[in-house]
Amino acid sequence: MNQNDLLNTTSATYSDAKQDMANMLESRPANYSLPQPFYNDPQFFRADMEEVFQKEWLFVGMTSEVPERGDYFTVEIGQNPVLIVRDADGSVNAFHNTCRHRGSRVCTEHRGKVANLVCPYHQWTYDLKGNLLFAGTEMGEGFDMKQHGLKKAHTKTAGGFIFICLGKEAPQGDFDQFLETLEEYMEPYDVENTKLAVESNMYEKANWKLVLENNRECYHCAGSHPELLNTLLEWDDTNDPRASEEFKALVAEQAADWDAEGIPHEHKSFGPGLRNRIVRMPLKKGTKVMTIDGESGCSKLLGRIKNPHMGSMRILHLPNSWNHMQSDHFIVFRVLPISAQESLVTTKWFVHKDAVEGVDYDPARLRQVWDATNDQDRILGEENQLGINSVGYQPGPYSETFEFGIINFMEWYSSTVQKNLKG
Ligand code: FES
Ligand SMILES: [Fe+2]
Repeated sequence: MNQNDLLNTTSATYSDAKQDMANMLESRPANYSLPQPFYNDPQFFRADMEEVFQKEWLFVGMTSEVPERGDYFTVEIGQNPVLIVRDADGSVNAFHNTCRHRGSRVCTEHRGKVANLVCPYHQWTYDLKGNLLFAGTEMGEGFDMKQHGLKKAHTKTAGGFIFICLGKEAPQGDFDQFLETLEEYMEPYDVENTKLAVESNMYEKANWKLVLENNRECYHCAGSHPELLNTLLEWDDTNDPRASEEFKALVAEQAADWDAEGIPHEHKSFGPGLRNRIVRMPLKKGTKVMTIDGESGCSKLLGRIKNPHMGSMRILHLPNSWNHMQSDHFIVFRVLPISAQESLVTTKWFVHKDAVEGVDYDPARLRQVWDATNDQDRILGEENQLGINSVGYQPGPYSETFEFGIINFMEWYSSTVQKNLKG
């Protein structure tokens, strides 16, 4: 089958769809956007959920969102409700948010605090480690409480980041090496002593890959993001062929300051397509953080940081997160697919836990730049989706100079899906 035949295929069954997907990835022209069904076909979407979001490590949130025992938040990975809770030992665990009685969701709120986890349907009660404590008196003699605890999802934390994996076996590879680096690079921020200042949840009518593709290039920035470009420098690597001498000099100057304070900044990456990646880069000369004027967003610096000119430490975790760590606040981004043509983009801003709202920081000022940027990106993603849905759509070329980040993303996506489809 050639590429054109594949493009015209309408998969009859789910297993045909998976086969078509594997064939299309196998024969995909290098450096081109994907065939249409990857962006809008419900069966391909199901395969993305099963092969990527139900098998790979996903970013869900920060440990400081659940600072004390019994604090929890919930997240939906497609049709899989998950709850993340801090237990009495201080560890953070993820559970499938589905009761072992008849499956009702146990925690129905987005966030909360509980002594135990109590299902609202018939009050089965679990402790914070998921053990069933109480199942009424009607379950009969042979009922084994120990066999009916909440099901755990794999959970790992590092540097305040919480990752979960819904697969039976969690992928190994170099994820642990990335976590070690994350721990080292996040140490100056002392995430356990931060707090969530403000959160936004943006609904976007676009396939999750379009959200990521848009994020992985700044080719569109000059035309779309005036607020962001007050402070952001596009390049995240001095090896970028577009990087100017002026930019390289700025990196050298700031890197010397960061070295003097023992602040990690060098580029580290792991996995195919730079799946997990960390680098600290300067912001525009004279600006401190990503606010509308580049001045402070919060009067308390984070952790052990003394220098307000920390630039932004950019952390990428495919498939669903990018992040900006700065001197006085940090911003985390999470993408979750809803359907073939819908996604949820969550953005959270964190400050020092002792910072006082209205005194040390103003949430409206903190969120201003990225609210504007997210909305601009949402429109770009939604227009991209509408155009891709056309019978006239045909995969188009990525620029190796401006869109190498998408080429990397596609390399990771393609290799991961092909590997996971083979089982
Ligand atoms: S479904 Fe949870 S107690 Fe019945
Ligand atoms: Fe953008």
